[in-house]
Amino acid sequence: MQINKVCCFGAGYVGGPTMAVMASKCPKQTFVVYDINEQQIEKWNNKQYPVYEKNLDEYINQTLNTNLIFTCDIDIALKDCDIAFLAVNTPSKKYGLGAESSLDISYIDSCLQQIKKYPLTKRLILVEKSTVPIKTCDYINAVLRDKNICVLSNPEFLAEGTAIQDLLNPDRVIIGGAIESAQQLASLYEQWVPKEKIIFTNIYSAELSKIVANSFLAQRVSSINSISIICDKIGADVNEISQCVGSDSRIGNKFLKTSVGFGGSCLKKDLLCLIYLCESLQLDEVAQYWRQVYLLNEFQKQRFYNLIITSMFNTLRNKIIVILGVAFKANTNDTRESASLMIIQKLQEEQAILRIYDPQGKIDKLEQCQSLDGIFKGASAIVILTEWEEFTKIDYAQAYEEMAKPSYCFDGRNLLQGEVMKSLGFLYYGLGRI
Ligand code: NAD
Ligand code: UGA
Repeated sequence: MQINKVCCFGAGYVGGPTMAVMASKCPKQTFVVYDINEQQIEKWNNKQYPVYEKNLDEYINQTLNTNLIFTCDIDIALKDCDIAFLAVNTPSKKYGLGAESSLDISYIDSCLQQIKKYPLTKRLILVEKSTVPIKTCDYINAVLRDKNICVLSNPEFLAEGTAIQDLLNPDRVIIGGAIESAQQLASLYEQWVPKEKIIFTNIYSAELSKIVANSFLAQRVSSINSISIICDKIGADVNEISQCVGSDSRIGNKFLKTSVGFGGSCLKKDLLCLIYLCESLQLDEVAQYWRQVYLLNEFQKQRFYNLIITSMFNTLRNKIIVILGVAFKANTNDTRESASLMIIQKLQEEQAILRIYDPQGKIDKLEQCQSLDGIFKGASAIVILTEWEEFTKIDYAQAYEEMAKPSYCFDGRNLLQGEVMKSLGFLYYGLGRI
């Protein structure tokens, strides 16, 4: 079967960038991104992207309205379609059994209902690109049992902030499911991904590998954060530990940066999904092992706001605190599950006056400064929560001059040089370093 037309349900952080890169690399195929949210589609079509990613505009400009279409019309998406990706959100369930841990697949469900109603004229390869609970493929087959479809799992591994780079040069592409259809999907990737990077697996392995990959990443962050706590007690430097440990090629140097805690829409939810899976299989010891990764992350956030509050002698009321960063990491506008959400809330409870700035991230209903101009004037503390490069370029000597005394700096990303900040006069606190 020749692949001519591909559609994607969901024009979010995954659907938009993924289809833009695919469309540019596969000029003979047409890509239609379909979303139920009209405003979201309008933004893509008017180049006011809902997603901030470096170089994204280049790929949209190349392809929009040539072989890439954004639409709310299901007919434009599914008519004569050969491959349909499901890239809709799968958040943690918010209610009932498994609340806060199992994944909610109601958006997947709504896609299936739309496909069920649609009079398909040819066989459709339906691809799970969203991160889904294990065996969702069986559920999809059951819902669409009267339809001429084949389900594949092709999880996405892009990280926000480096999405375009990750899509252009993925470490691997995993395709799980019946080999004939899997090879048809692979024929798209082969237009730019080296063949040896495409891994064919059974469909459950593909689904599970995604959850496991994110849980391993979360585990590394919690591991190094746990060491930062020891460092604080004994006067060792966690950055040096990361360097020493990470230069063992068996361990590797990535994902060893201590932080105020991992955030984002996926690490936590996918880790909780793994924990829920273990619990459902009555594997209590395994569940507890992974739960500790989650609990350590919560503890790291608490530890940081406790540090701020106690260092300022529990008296923050009416003091001005500058918050640098609300995005869950640098180079994205995404604030979902950002550690800053909890920390801002705790500082508000202390009745501090917050001046909040982020180059891209915005939190709903929260007043934010548009720039750094005048932000430090009269402030008692700077709290760094996101590792934007812009924050390393601030003239901290000047900031110190403008601030109230004593002037605190709480660096939740170990972004600045502690010694330099102290020499300027700041009471500087990093994580796991003296
Ligand atoms: P998102 O919230 O940014 O986008 C999801 C989009 O799906 C929304 O625009 C929503 O309106 C749309 N949608 C919901 N129901 C729909 C329906 N029935 N038909 C059409 N559109 C519908 O989500 P995201 O961050 O792109 O994540 C999507 C999936 O990919 C999730 O399962 C996530 O775990 C996974 N994932 C995300 C990332 C990431 O970096 N964000 C990376 C890898 C995998
Ligand atoms: C993560 C994975 O890295 C992607 O492979 C995956 O596709 C994606 O989840 C997903 O499934 O959505 P993302 O959440 O975008 O990507 O960002 P990460 O780079 O993984 O960062 C997650 C959090 O961990 C951030 O808050 C980041 O600041 C923190 N982090 C990361 C650290 O605290 N230390 C590190 O060393 C690395």
